[in-house]
Amino acid sequence: MLKIADLADPAFRSDVLAGLAEPTPAIPARWLYDLRGSELFDDITRLPSYYPTRVETALLTARMAEIAPLACHDCAIVEFGSGSSTKTPLLLDAMHPKAYVPIDISGEYLRDSAARVDAQFPRLPVHPVEADFTKQVELPSAIDGLPRLGFFPGSTIGNFVPRSATDLLRHFRDILGTGSKLLIGMDRVKPVERLIAAYDDPEGVTAEFNLNLLHRINRELAADIPIDAFRHAARWHDMNGRVEMHLVAQRDVAFTIDGQRFAFAKGSSIHTENSHKYGPRGARLLLLAGGWTPLAEWTDPEQDFALILAEAQRNRFAP
Ligand code: AVJ
Repeated sequence: MLKIADLADPAFRSDVLAGLAEPTPAIPARWLYDLRGSELFDDITRLPSYYPTRVETALLTARMAEIAPLACHDCAIVEFGSGSSTKTPLLLDAMHPKAYVPIDISGEYLRDSAARVDAQFPRLPVHPVEADFTKQVELPSAIDGLPRLGFFPGSTIGNFVPRSATDLLRHFRDILGTGSKLLIGMDRVKPVERLIAAYDDPEGVTAEFNLNLLHRINRELAADIPIDAFRHAARWHDMNGRVEMHLVAQRDVAFTIDGQRFAFAKGSSIHTENSHKYGPRGARLLLLAGGWTPLAEWTDPEQDFALILAEAQRNRFAP
């Protein structure tokens, strides 16, 4: 008999089953972004308390005249995790690239947003790639020989623990090649109250985004998690410099996922996302460790968010 769980992504199943069996139960954040999750994240970006998208978009708008000539000359723009591609037109308008390669794990979302860019920039070749950008990615041969600008906005790098962030930056370097550039958005450390407000909004959208993961598990992995037993929580972990999202059990609760039983005591939690925040030096050190030399950076007057342009220089040894 074909079970519902057989239709789900096997990596989702194994990440959930293995992650919940850990001493500190956790599920990788990428699984928050199914179609519904991506829609809810889009709603988050419009919340008054969620400043990163607004500040980054304002920065890109205000500073694009300076950024564009440093970043791209007849280049191909490769966007990692393009999502709804809302910030992309700002680059395309100013940089006039030779091609645009959006890479995203959510195929439906990718096709929609690629079609929108296609309609808005009819003479720009758009080559969408449906892929997990942390894995092997084959760039379309149509951009062979073009200089490359990687675009990684939104402080998505903050989702990765520093060790994985370093691996990812090195991976981008391998994908794009020596001499390529990277324009990356990184959220800054700031007072805890503002950080928590951004990840636990009064409207409850981030809570719905987080809880959607449990709905997704129920739907795709033949599970019977009582959603109302869990509550969204955002916590600042000062030592690790990050906001954490958790789903906290409100009572003792037990359920099965694809036939496997799990029990959570009241107050215990499932860790679902990290958002690391960086100071100016930490941000630059992370890039350097990942093989990218910072060339220039831009921040807003409150220094809430930073855009950094970096280059994958050829290997050079000290000094
Ligand atoms: C898409 C990873 C940048 O960490 O700020 C927003 C995701 N999670 N609110 C972030 C998110 C909860 C967001 N990133």
